[in-house]
Amino acid sequence: MPWGRRGGRVSALEGGPEEEAPPVAAAVPSVLWASRLQPEAAAEQILLRGIFEIGRDSCDVVLSERALRWRPIQPERPAGDFQYDLLCKEEFIELKDIFSVKLKRRYSAKQQGSGTLLGITLFICLKKEQNKLQDSTLDLINLSEDHCDIWFRQFKKILAGFSNRPKSLKILLNPQSHKKEATQVYYKKVEPLLKIAGIKTDVTITEYEGHALSLLKECELQGFDGVVCVGGDGSASEVAHALLLRAQKDAGVEADSILTPVQAQLPLGVIPAGSTNVLAHSLHGVPHVVTATLHIIMGHVQPVDVCSFSTIGKLLRFGFSAMFGFGGRTLALAEKHRWMSPNQRRDFAVIKALAKLKPEDCEISFLPFKSSQDLQERRAQESPKSDCNEQWQMIQGQFLNISIMAIPCLCSVAPRGLAPNTRLNNGSMALIIARNTSRPEFIKHLKRYASLKNQFNFPFIETYTVEEVKVHPRNNTSAHNPEEEERPHETASENSFPWNVDGDLMEVASEVHVRLHPRLINLYGGSMEEMNDSKATCNCL
Ligand SMILES: *[C@@H]1O[C@H](CO)[C@@H](O)[C@H](O)[C@H]1NC(C)=O
Ligand SMILES: *[C@@H]1O[C@H](CO)[C@@H](O)[C@H](O)[C@H]1NC(C)=O
Ligand SMILES: *[C@@H]1O[C@H](CO)[C@@H](O)[C@H](O)[C@H]1NC(C)=O
Ligand SMILES: *[C@@H]1O[C@H](CO)[C@@H](O)[C@H](O)[C@H]1NC(C)=O
Ligand SMILES: *[C@@H]1O[C@H](CO)[C@@H](O)[C@H](O)[C@H]1NC(C)=O
Ligand SMILES: *[C@@H]1O[C@H](CO)[C@@H](O)[C@H](O)[C@H]1NC(C)=O
Repeated sequence: MPWGRRGGRVSALEGGPEEEAPPVAAAVPSVLWASRLQPEAAAEQILLRGIFEIGRDSCDVVLSERALRWRPIQPERPAGDFQYDLLCKEEFIELKDIFSVKLKRRYSAKQQGSGTLLGITLFICLKKEQNKLQDSTLDLINLSEDHCDIWFRQFKKILAGFSNRPKSLKILLNPQSHKKEATQVYYKKVEPLLKIAGIKTDVTITEYEGHALSLLKECELQGFDGVVCVGGDGSASEVAHALLLRAQKDAGVEADSILTPVQAQLPLGVIPAGSTNVLAHSLHGVPHVVTATLHIIMGHVQPVDVCSFSTIGKLLRFGFSAMFGFGGRTLALAEKHRWMSPNQRRDFAVIKALAKLKPEDCEISFLPFKSSQDLQERRAQESPKSDCNEQWQMIQGQFLNISIMAIPCLCSVAPRGLAPNTRLNNGSMALIIARNTSRPEFIKHLKRYASLKNQFNFPFIETYTVEEVKVHPRNNTSAHNPEEEERPHETASENSFPWNVDGDLMEVASEVHVRLHPRLINLYGGSMEEMNDSKATCNCL
């Protein structure tokens, strides 16, 4: 009786007490089994084999080291029957796509205790089109307690082997983001999945801007495998900044004058629930809550480049992208109209900033990117600034808008990204400059972001791939702008220099120095190229 032997092998592997063969397997004529042996499965070690009902079919189910395969058990039919072959097509899921296993039971009203066992439910992460992930379940039906118990424990053991998956997460939830839906998003879509995956959570609902920052400065992080932010770009960027500041503090690095900051200890997950979700969109290829949650559950982590912003040698903050000029002024205007709905004030601010469009008189110096090998070597040498006479380049003049971006900045208005030639971690940032031009030309350029045409193909646009940038506003443009209407209460803001750092307003009057730090933080998310390669792994669901 071959199945007895297999059962024995399994229990030896488990070291558990169940020495008998799975009872249900015994009910099947062994001839049938022999003819169903699958060549591809034979190469891998078989851990378990048995019978379950899957989708109403009685199936021969084989669990090997990498996959779970099954094929309906059919009565014998004439050889060469085409339909028969179709019907008996093997289906499979890869074990790495399973994120939880539960015993499936039916509870009736009168019944006490644990209910009637129906089988095992596997919770699976499915890859869908356009980088989306979706959770799904697969029921393996078998009424035998002993049979299910062996399989259940084997699945548990397999899941325990995925050591990169988080077991405990610190959740920071910004209830104010966008239309205040972050709380609902979390409790409706995120928490149920984390619960199924058996991940412990510790939720803090932030009460004010900077709350996450002050919390992460002190709080005990030892017990956590990761930090998750539920909110928009501003919230996510604040948490990333806070994690990096914390890492410097823990490493005893003077945070004020950082040349080579240390990496954040914990990976950060970003659940998109804000009015702009550029970071989540860039990470996952799609601003999709379930996708972001599943990347966290599956422990998909990737290192991401970070910029530091400093002025006169003092660190202002860490971030992923910045805009100065039009992009900064738009945000400053929107912030002054907080009473409007997020979409309303964004549109209003864009229109108003366009109406008052004026260039900034600036000096921009930058260090062009050399090669990733170069950068690695310099990092390895631990003295990145040893040769101060690196080839800084300088441009000056009147600029309408300046973007400095370490990540591609995908968003709904720019599906290929505001900086489409940058990757999350290729060690460089994009410096994109719009020189002074007429308003209609500038608007034409902005509209191009939404199209497939090259938004940089204008004579007044310049793009550079850089490692460092210094932006020095020269502060005397209004003198050159006689047509501008002067309103006393707005003069102050005209003379200020608003930066948009990941959707957060940062006002700095003096020179801002932006440095790229390759792979400084780990973020939960699958790289999009990688996901493009792998096709849907499950052909059954
Ligand atoms: C200019 O500003 C807009 C909107 O604020 C932004 O989307 C764009 O990427 C910015 N950069 C350039 C170089 O135009
Ligand atoms: C980063 O990746 C993009 C896309 O592959 C490429 O165009 C760009 O040149 C890369 N940058 C560097 C500095 O390698
Ligand atoms: C910017 O360009 C516009 C249109 O070409 C021009 O009218 C304006 O004077 C320029 N501003 C400055 C400060 O050069
Ligand atoms: C003011 O602008 C002019 C013309 O762009 C420039 O030559 C001059 O250096 C600027 N002054 C200061 C103090 O930056
Ligand atoms: C710009 O002008 C203001 C006064 O109008 C002054 O306080 C500030 O220091 C100036 N900034 C720079 C960079 O020159
Ligand atoms: C996705 O993969 C296909 C085929 O492997 C390739 O042709 C295509 O360029 C890829 N798309 C992206 C966005 O990388």
